[in-house]
Amino acid sequence: MTEPSAELTGFPMTNPLEIVHLSKSYDGTPVLRDVSLSVRGGRILTLLGPSGCGKTTTLRLIAGFDWPDSGTVTINGRTVASEGVRTPAEERRVGMVFQEYALFPHLTVAENIAFGLKGNKHEKQTRVSEMLALVALLDVGERMPYDLSGGQQQRIALARALAPQPDILLLDEPFSNLDAALRGQVRSEVRAILKQSGITCVFVTHDQEEALSLADEVAVMLSGHIAQVGTPQRLYRHPATRTVAAFVGEANFLPGEAHGETVDCVLGCLPLNQPAHGSVTVLIRPEWLKLNNSVSYSEGTIMWQEFYGHDRRLGIRLSDGTALVARSDADNDYTVGESVEVGVDVAVQTFPHQ
Ligand SMILES: Nc1ncnc2c1ncn2[C@@H]1O[C@H](COP(=O)(O)OP(=O)(O)OP(=O)(O)O)[C@@H](O)[C@H]1O
Ligand SMILES: [Mg+2]
Repeated sequence: MTEPSAELTGFPMTNPLEIVHLSKSYDGTPVLRDVSLSVRGGRILTLLGPSGCGKTTTLRLIAGFDWPDSGTVTINGRTVASEGVRTPAEERRVGMVFQEYALFPHLTVAENIAFGLKGNKHEKQTRVSEMLALVALLDVGERMPYDLSGGQQQRIALARALAPQPDILLLDEPFSNLDAALRGQVRSEVRAILKQSGITCVFVTHDQEEALSLADEVAVMLSGHIAQVGTPQRLYRHPATRTVAAFVGEANFLPGEAHGETVDCVLGCLPLNQPAHGSVTVLIRPEWLKLNNSVSYSEGTIMWQEFYGHDRRLGIRLSDGTALVARSDADNDYTVGESVEVGVDVAVQTFPHQ
C-alpha cells in the first residue's frame, strides 16, 4: 500500500534539510548566531558570505563534524543534532565536496568512486559506471587522478560524493582551485549534474556571481547570521539592506528624499518599487542607468571605461560631482571626457538613511 501524500493528509511536507536557531561559539567567540535555514527537495541553496562569516562551520554542523551549542539540525525528518541528540557523521547520509578535490592519489578514478560504496563487486562496478556516465567521464575509470584536469577531478570528486546516494550534498567552495576561465564552464556542468541527480544541496561560496548563477535560493550570511534568504533575482533586485545590496552585486548608493511612490535624488524624480518616506538611500544597479536614452536625465561626463566583450563598464561624474558606475551595450563606444545624459528606467529600491 502506498502512503497517502502530504498534500492529501494536510501535513506539511518535510524538507530534506532543516536548521533551526543554530548557534556556535569557539573559545567564547560567537561564530554562528541563531542560524535558521531550510532546503526543499532537489533544490540548491547557496550560502554566500565573506571569508570568516561562518559558512564552513555551518556545513560542519550539518555533516556532524562538530556540534552546535544550541539549535537543531534535521535531515529528512530525523533530528541529528539538538540538545541530547548527537548522531555521528557516518549515520547522517550527507555527502561532501571540498575545495581541494580530496581524491586519493594512489587509487584509480574508479577505485576513488567505489571507495565509500557497500555491496558486492558487481554492484559497485555498476554504480561506478552510472556515476561516470552522470559526470560525462565514462572513459577515465582506469586513469589516475593526477592524469585529469582540475575540472575533471572536481567532477570525479562529485561522482564519489554522490555514489553512496546521500540525502544531502554539501559543497564547500569546490571551484576555488580552478582558474577563472574554467570555473564558469565547470560551474554549469556541475549545476546540470546536480539537477540531473535530483540531490538536495547546500553550496558554499564567497563569490556572488557563482552564488547567483548556481542557486535556486541564496542565503546571505554576514558575521555568523543569515541576513536574507531568497531567489537570486529577489536578492539582486530587492535586497533587504544596504549591506546585502552591496554584497550581491555592484551598487550605486545616492541620498534621496522619498514621497511615497517616488524619490527625489540627483538623477531626478524616480519611481519606487515599494513606497517609502523621508530621508533614504537609493540603490541603483549599474545596468539600471541609461545613457542618452531617457525622458528624465542629468548631465554627466564619462570618466573612464572598461570593455568586457558582452558589455562595457563606465565611470560617470555628474555635474554636482556625484560619481556613478554604469553598464552599457558593448557596441556603444564612448570617449573619456564626453558628455552624456544619465537617466534611470526602472523603479528603484530605497533603504532607510544611515
Ligand atoms: N575549530 C575552530 N576553533 C576556533 N575557531 C574556529 C574554528 N573553526 C572556525 N573558527 C572560527 O570561526 C569563524 C568562522 O570560520 P568558518 O571557517 O566557518 O568561516 P568561512 O565563512 O567558511 O570562511 P572562508 O570563506 O574563509 O572559508 C572564523 O573566525 C574562524 O577562525
Ligand atoms: Mg570556509
